[in-house]
Amino acid sequence: MDSTLPTFTPLEDSLWLTLCARALDNRSPHPILGDATADQIVRTLDYDYDHLHVDTNLILNVALRAKKLDQVAAAFLARHPDAVGLDLGAGLDTRMERLAPPSTVDWYDVDFPAVAAARERLIPEHPNAHVVGADVTEEDWLDGVPTDRPAVIVADGLMGFLSQDELVSLWNRLIDHFPSGELVFNSYTRFAIWVARHARGTKSVAELVKFPGMDDPREPEHWNPRLHLVREILLSREPEVDQFPPAWRRYHRLAAHNTAWSRTGTIVLHYRF
Ligand SMILES: C[S@@+](CC[C@H](N)C(=O)[O-])C[C@H]1O[C@@H](n2cnc3c(N)ncnc32)[C@H](O)[C@@H]1O
Repeated sequence: MDSTLPTFTPLEDSLWLTLCARALDNRSPHPILGDATADQIVRTLDYDYDHLHVDTNLILNVALRAKKLDQVAAAFLARHPDAVGLDLGAGLDTRMERLAPPSTVDWYDVDFPAVAAARERLIPEHPNAHVVGADVTEEDWLDGVPTDRPAVIVADGLMGFLSQDELVSLWNRLIDHFPSGELVFNSYTRFAIWVARHARGTKSVAELVKFPGMDDPREPEHWNPRLHLVREILLSREPEVDQFPPAWRRYHRLAAHNTAWSRTGTIVLHYRF
């Protein structure tokens, strides 16, 4: 692995926050995700993450949401071994390696060209893994992706950086492109967006947040009639909370009693089309 640190724009730099959170989860005594490759990338690049102020709360949330997104994608790929997988705003995440899909699946990691170039330099090639260097809000990057196979589309940490119009038109283009599929992403309520703009742990990305937040998980059903909510996954209510450090375990167990409170934390939304 090439150990030269890539140069990114501030928006691209946001990938360090999630990559380092997964690396630090892997170093914890009881990892939630246990992503050894994230840890290896951070160590190889000797990335200095002190300035990011990655706190325990962020580590737990990033690791658990990645695990939930992986679970949805893995279940889809098990049912559709001929599928196409897409990771939008993939950063340096190695989701495909965690999922280890059958060789009949084609996986596309999409991010800006500089990030795609860094991926190609840092992450070993795989015959069924394709790296697409593009702005997801542009029209033509989907041209090279098959149109005749079911698709599972994952977006981990992307939504906050798109305006609502950009997000709606992206989802619509994806839904039009494939015969059927599932879409899974981490979402933010309006309050969670406010917190992301003000919390110390997300200070490095505060100025870049464009999404206003979404309080109703059924709202995207109005954006496209083919889109149907499968499940709103409120992380406070997931069983992995039992593995959290005591103070955070107690907090999430309390929050789990109340939907509005649970929604102030991390939400993963799962749709089919
Ligand atoms: C918080 S990072 C998450 C990265 C990765 N999904 C992860 O979990 O580590 C957000 C990523 O979205 C990418 N991104 C933001 N806006 C984008 C856009 N319009 N087109 C392509 N990628 C975008 C950034 O470059 C960055 O890699």
